[in-house]
Amino acid sequence: MQNLTEEILKATKEALDDISSCSDIQSLRKISSVYKGKESKLYKILTEISKLQGDEKKFIGSCINESKEKIDNVLLQKEQELKISEYEKEESEYLDITLNKEDKKLGSTHPVTQMIQKIVDVFSLYGFSHVTDREIETDWFCFQALNMDVDHPAREMQDTFYIEENHILPRTHTSSVQIRTMIKAKPPIRIISAGRVYRNENQDARHSFMFYQYEGLIIDNNISIADLKSILTQALRKIFENDKIDLRLRHSYFPYTEPSFEIDATCMLCQGKGCKVCDFKGWLELLGAGMVHPQVLRNVKIDPKKYQGFAFGGGPERLIMIKNEINDTRLFYENDLRFLSQLKKL
Ligand code: PHE
Repeated sequence: MQNLTEEILKATKEALDDISSCSDIQSLRKISSVYKGKESKLYKILTEISKLQGDEKKFIGSCINESKEKIDNVLLQKEQELKISEYEKEESEYLDITLNKEDKKLGSTHPVTQMIQKIVDVFSLYGFSHVTDREIETDWFCFQALNMDVDHPAREMQDTFYIEENHILPRTHTSSVQIRTMIKAKPPIRIISAGRVYRNENQDARHSFMFYQYEGLIIDNNISIADLKSILTQALRKIFENDKIDLRLRHSYFPYTEPSFEIDATCMLCQGKGCKVCDFKGWLELLGAGMVHPQVLRNVKIDPKKYQGFAFGGGPERLIMIKNEINDTRLFYENDLRFLSQLKKL
């Protein structure tokens, strides 16, 4: 009897080992017929049972049944596992040759986003770090700190939508970021910032209630107008990929810079000869700029006797419009793919 139980155990182990190492349904079926068939070791042991008596017969019989049951269960479990993995394999290899080839239409970033990225990249070459800040501002950051008191007439140029309670408003220019940066950081400061600004404008081809601006600021020792002109000339040449561009500074007025300028660049479409785009002047107006007003520095607790700086600001849309000879700002925000996909890659 000792021998028989050992043989049963050995036969069961062999069967279980074979089942567990099996890796496809066909071989599992073969294994199953071998272990359940008349040639199997367990069947042979079963035939020996008739030679046994009473309790012994009963015991060996129940051992065989137990082992058969175990083998059946493991077979069933293995079969399920193999079916699932074969189904998954078929799924992943499934190829429907009747399907049309997929016409992949890839999107792209909006031209304004591309231009902002280009501006940020170019200015980073001159040590400007990119900062962004909130679009909903307080009156102080948007106007008062920039030397435009509550009743300052220059506010007229930048009317916006006011919420009287808490004195908040959608910012009218990115110059508020200058103030936020100067309050947080100590000189030397070199930043470039870009984002949406809002004004109360009548919608027409040149005006929109929302548009984009980029703004640069340097605060350091011994900064002069020559630095302003030289950095901006180099940066604009890089942005337009045109080394022939020159700048000219025209006197202008902003309450937060003194002196203030409008900056024009050689018209890159006619190389300064005069064309429709530049109104036959040979120059294109690109930016507002100036040396930071000492009162603005005092407002943010920077000593104007120790530090000076310049700031400039302009519209990325304007740069794209020049490059692509577009004459209507509203086209940028209508999301008409026919327009957007016509634009030259920046
Ligand atoms: N904030 C000005 C505008 O919106 C542009 C500007 C920026 C001018 C910085 C001078 C210095 O028109």
